[in-house]
Amino acid sequence: MATVATSTYSNFINGEWVPSRAAKTFDDRNPANSDELVGTFPASTAEDISSAIQAAKDAFPKWRLTPAPKRAEILYRTAEILIERKEEFARDMTREMGKVLAETRGDVQEAIDMTYLMAGEGRRLFGETTPSELPNKFAMAVRVPVGVAGLITPWNFPMAIPSWKAMPALVCGNTAVLKPAEDTPLSTYHLTQALSEAGLPAGVLNVVFGDGPGAGAPILKNRDVSLVSFTGSTEVGRIVSEACAPTFKKCHLEMGGKNIIIVMDDANLPLAIDGAVWGGFGTTGQRCTAASRIAVQEKVYREFVDKFVARAKTLRVGDGLDPATEMGPCINEQQLKTVMNYVEIGVAEGAKLAAGGHRLEKGALAKGWFHEPTVFVDCNPRMRICQEEIFGPVVSIIPFESFDDALEIANGVQYGLSASIYTRNVNNAFRAQRDLQTGIVYVNAPTIGAEVHLPFGGIKNTGNGHRESGVAALDFYSDWKTLYVDYSDRLQRAQIDNSE
Ligand code: UN1
Repeated sequence: MATVATSTYSNFINGEWVPSRAAKTFDDRNPANSDELVGTFPASTAEDISSAIQAAKDAFPKWRLTPAPKRAEILYRTAEILIERKEEFARDMTREMGKVLAETRGDVQEAIDMTYLMAGEGRRLFGETTPSELPNKFAMAVRVPVGVAGLITPWNFPMAIPSWKAMPALVCGNTAVLKPAEDTPLSTYHLTQALSEAGLPAGVLNVVFGDGPGAGAPILKNRDVSLVSFTGSTEVGRIVSEACAPTFKKCHLEMGGKNIIIVMDDANLPLAIDGAVWGGFGTTGQRCTAASRIAVQEKVYREFVDKFVARAKTLRVGDGLDPATEMGPCINEQQLKTVMNYVEIGVAEGAKLAAGGHRLEKGALAKGWFHEPTVFVDCNPRMRICQEEIFGPVVSIIPFESFDDALEIANGVQYGLSASIYTRNVNNAFRAQRDLQTGIVYVNAPTIGAEVHLPFGGIKNTGNGHRESGVAALDFYSDWKTLYVDYSDRLQRAQIDNSE
């Protein structure tokens, strides 16, 4: 493979790429080969963050008054740049994140889809008009921008998730400071470059690189930031929520998941197996929507387990740039260790290890953070491996007797992001849609694969009541302003004069 030149990158503040004042840096390395340096990025400090926030604050008055269709034109141009450079951006994303090329193309595509969707909103951003209870009076509610948005994004969808946050924030008229995860800064660099080339005015979007405590925390504390959107673990989400509380920031949290696929006796079994392999091991299980639990009804349990385990054993693990690879590495050493630790926990709890269970480090895999696709079978739903988010290629299979048992297992976790049922019984399909306690339910499809024009998010310890994606995102990135115009030329008292 040709050697790729590495570069030193800067923060993007007030329309310019500027080095961190502290001149400290961190390395972006390839998880498939940690010897490969993808780039060097600034480890930003509180000082860098405050100049980014100041730039966003200064840009807000003008951006707020830029007509939304004009803001949207920049988004349309951005989407076109992303389309032109999709292949290059996908390859760079595989180099820094590890997932296979088909998936990183999908990640860039998701950013394109979201950018077009939000560009379209520039000519909608619908509000409400409604009759007044009084004569000669007009009543309506319009969306107004919130102010400076702080956006903190994860490494597993390094271009899609920043676009889920930045595009609705910008089209609604907010300005923003974005801090991407330190494992995958290059994809955010590319997205920012595309927005900048498309003509985004200086200061409207600022990007600061660095870790959570150094670069994320100062965003949360700053009084000039009115809104925060965070995607990451439930543990860090709690810290974010608490840090936002004293200054009453509008705060959106998208956190962990322990998603389930329910396979009923009457399911199309080959289809369910395909879905479970994709849901469990796609993105090396590193999706908050990953199917880390599979509950299978008694009659088909053995057959499902045998076939699923056989599939897991034959998955080709390797460098995501190799077209033969089906599953890439874990994102970093820490994540690999977490996975290995959960394998030990599962074994100690008495779950039966039916496939995988080990780090892969022979030959070409020696320098990467690879782990075998791992399957535990005959699990008890109360086991830690069935309760806690692992964020890796580990699937736990749980047998069940009745549909009601399946629901109880499905809902018996602290998380509530995504769930799926494979069945041909329409009654059970609809009952599942009604009774599964998650923000997303799939029928005859795995737990992953959300589309950008529908709300995305979860309940319980997965979320805090907001949604991103779709029109629902606009409710977070704008405030409602209610407007009454009385053209009666007399005092009309609501609730009083209308009862006469
Ligand atoms: C995530 O799981 O972290 O629904 C985001 C999906 C993707 C987005 C996932 N479109 O699987």
